[in-house]
Amino acid sequence: MQQHRRPAVATRLQAAPSEDRLFGPNPAVALNTTYYEGQRSVYGRHTNSTWEAFEAVVGELEGGQALAFASGMAAMLAVLLSVGARAFVVADAYMGTRQLVSWLRERTPQLYVAESSQLEVLVESCEPGDLVVLETPSNPLLATYPIAELAAALHRRGALLAVDSTLATPVLQQPLALGADVVIHSASKFLSGHADVLGGVVVAGDDVLASRLAEARELTGGVIGPVEAYLCFRGMRTLAVRVERASATATELAERLRARVGTWVRYPGFNEALVGRGRQQAAGGAVIALVFPTSAVADAFVDALELFHHATSLGGVESLAERRSRYPAEDRVPEGLVRLSIGLEDPEDLWEDLDRALTVALS
Ligand SMILES: Cc1ncc(COP(=O)(O)O)c(C=O)c1O
Repeated sequence: MQQHRRPAVATRLQAAPSEDRLFGPNPAVALNTTYYEGQRSVYGRHTNSTWEAFEAVVGELEGGQALAFASGMAAMLAVLLSVGARAFVVADAYMGTRQLVSWLRERTPQLYVAESSQLEVLVESCEPGDLVVLETPSNPLLATYPIAELAAALHRRGALLAVDSTLATPVLQQPLALGADVVIHSASKFLSGHADVLGGVVVAGDDVLASRLAEARELTGGVIGPVEAYLCFRGMRTLAVRVERASATATELAERLRARVGTWVRYPGFNEALVGRGRQQAAGGAVIALVFPTSAVADAFVDALELFHHATSLGGVESLAERRSRYPAEDRVPEGLVRLSIGLEDPEDLWEDLDRALTVALS
């Protein structure tokens, strides 16, 4: 019998099954909160067919069981509360994740949620049932961590690994296939892709973790709205083309920036051991950081940009720039660090804008 080649992500994005997509390419926006007796669902906080359509697409790409949440933060909360006995978050995680960890520690000291900057020490100190949460690439420092190696080391100790893969997206990286137990995404970024919806998703590698996460979602009520789930689903249909294009543009811009300002540029694509075709992450992704010597120079650069909008967030179709340490809670990053989220504009136009803004800021 002839073997079929597995279709590429761009193809599989159009084909993931879900019940009411049998009628056409798009799911219905299911707005019911209550269901007549005998139906598959009972109440809107338990499940919803529009969530399921979005979850089916993400689960198929990541190779696990996906659960949609109200936001990336709601997804992270469910992971911290329900996956491991104790949870440790690697210290260069997204500012909001670190704030959530300190908030949980303050209010529920009996719940062991901690932050650590020493990954090797952290892995060595893990006990059976513990959970380590890390971001790769991390936001906004753009560090990349070896998922397979860390998952193996944690599994030897009976511990678990959760990877926040928001910056990589399932187009570039599939952590479950590398041994991670859980994957987290802020769907507000690349998955929905148009800066018009807050959402989150967790993908569990097995049924036990999936049911713990489903219970956490139901009890904390951090559920995504059906309209938001539809928008996430809709965004996913173009995920591959958006991410591939934005990542290719970012790779080109990062190289040109490196030729211009050298070590000020941070880009996951520069880590050739982990990033590139056939490696953990297939390409560098769409986020670049530029570390200016002072916040004043960084601000002058951001002010001089004309095509890049001065705004927070990442993963949308428009390019954004932001000096991260404008937030007091972003206390782990150099004060001159500007994060660039590369969108879908013409690469030459973006380069001219960056080049001109650098000239202005450095003059
Ligand atoms: C890596 C990462 N994880 C989680 C979050 C939180 O997601 P949300 O804003 O959807 O709650 C963000 C938001 O910026 C993020 O960048």
